[in-house]
Amino acid sequence: MIKALRIFLLMLFITAAGFLYKVMYNGYNVSYFSYIFIQGLSVNPSDGTIAKDQANSNKVTAEDILSGGNSIIFLETGDRIQLPSLVLCAIESAARVYPNRSVVFLIKSLNHTNSEDQEKRFIDHYPTLSSLNNVYIFPLVMEDILNKTPLFDWYKKINTTLESHWIHVSSDGCRLALIWKYGGIYMDTDIISMRPIPHLNFLAGESNLYSSNGVFGFASQHTFTWTGMENFVKNYNGNAWGNQGPHLFTRVLKMICTLPNFNNTEDIMCGNITFLNPQRFYPIPYPAWRRYYEVWTKLPTFNQSYALHLWNYMNRDRKTMEPGSNTLVEHLYQQYCPSTYVALQKNGSIYI
Ligand SMILES: *[C@@H]1O[C@H](CO)[C@@H](O)[C@H](O)[C@H]1NC(C)=O
Ligand SMILES: *[C@@H]1O[C@H](CO)[C@@H](O)[C@H](O)[C@H]1NC(C)=O
Ligand SMILES: *[C@@H]1O[C@H](CO)[C@@H](O)[C@H](O)[C@H]1NC(C)=O
Ligand SMILES: *[C@@H]1O[C@H](CO)[C@@H](O)[C@H](O)[C@H]1NC(C)=O
Ligand SMILES: *[C@@H]1O[C@H](CO)[C@@H](O)[C@H](O)[C@H]1NC(C)=O
Ligand SMILES: *[C@@H]1O[C@H](CO)[C@@H](O)[C@H](O)[C@H]1NC(C)=O
Ligand SMILES: *[C@@H]1O[C@H](CO)[C@@H](O)[C@H](O)[C@H]1NC(C)=O
Repeated sequence: MIKALRIFLLMLFITAAGFLYKVMYNGYNVSYFSYIFIQGLSVNPSDGTIAKDQANSNKVTAEDILSGGNSIIFLETGDRIQLPSLVLCAIESAARVYPNRSVVFLIKSLNHTNSEDQEKRFIDHYPTLSSLNNVYIFPLVMEDILNKTPLFDWYKKINTTLESHWIHVSSDGCRLALIWKYGGIYMDTDIISMRPIPHLNFLAGESNLYSSNGVFGFASQHTFTWTGMENFVKNYNGNAWGNQGPHLFTRVLKMICTLPNFNNTEDIMCGNITFLNPQRFYPIPYPAWRRYYEVWTKLPTFNQSYALHLWNYMNRDRKTMEPGSNTLVEHLYQQYCPSTYVALQKNGSIYI
């Protein structure tokens, strides 16, 4: 009886919501069934996420997904569309390691006019990602991301054509603003995830006494990300590589505590932030980055690591994963991004 009443009320609400939706989205040619379905989901969500098929047939914005608060965020601030396979591997591996979290990829070159249509077409471009139901691709609109943060006025004043490291600097700013606003984990697109990071507020040690900004996580509105944005503007120097990136993170972290000399495998607390030892993401330090593209007689287990940073910015000779090469990176692809791996192996192309 009570159940029947609940169903009746739910149907009533769905019909009302469906009507409103129809009025609001008059311009979109969506079927009655599909909008009723998504409204039904939003009335009674099982786990707070919106399933892929509904997301594709209706306009879901980046804000809708990000405000869930625990997304894994990847950014592409360059103009490329044909992304290296490592980017797809990074996203796929995160989607597999965090099946219950949304993996959000924001791309600058994806124009934001008619973004509903673009999102659909763009993800269809990458068959290895479109089969993962927790991956979302949206346009990266810097103005929206930085709005209502200390970075907004700085952004308005800057002449981007004169900036020598704009792709990096804009990425450095956007990641801070996004994690400040929404919370979650930011990751560079050359990080292969292996197992979940068991911390909410964390920074990654890149080496002794030095914090990375290539992977970090915070609850929304954490002091660290806000102070980071203020310090970014105060000490801005676009010509100094890393000044707004790892140097900034290290500077701000030092305001909170004395950075330790790690004895390899202990993490430390710095105020309410867990500062993770370099083994967690950087077991192969940057001068040795080529090791990822070499054949090992005995494969390392990386059992102290959550994810591996492959140091793509060191990779000037553009080494890539070659199927059949038996290199360390091939084994990582096979295990952590099998769809990308199989697609590369079959056809040599990961785009349609
Ligand atoms: C994901 O969520 C489901 C149900 O909500 C739960 O059973 C499962 O353990 C979760 N998986 C992970 C990896 O957290
Ligand atoms: C975005 O717009 C520009 C200029 O109109 C165009 O060159 C580019 O191909 C567009 N990008 C996409 C993903 O459609
Ligand atoms: C930015 O700098 C370029 C190169 O000096 C110049 O041509 C352009 O007019 C500047 N733009 C603005 C908005 O000042
Ligand atoms: C490293 O070992 C030294 C000596 O055993 C110890 O004093 C120090 O606290 C350790 N560092 C960390 C981060 O645990
Ligand atoms: C974390 O510590 C800072 C002081 O360093 C404090 O201002 C902030 O409220 C704390 N945040 C949380 C979430 O505990
Ligand atoms: C990690 O792997 C090494 C071998 O590479 C092994 O000696 C060690 O016991 C492992 N540690 C854990 C916690 O599994
Ligand atoms: C192989 O890749 C091309 C594009 O490079 C695509 O048109 C074709 O459908 C692919 N074939 C298979 C079997 O996946």
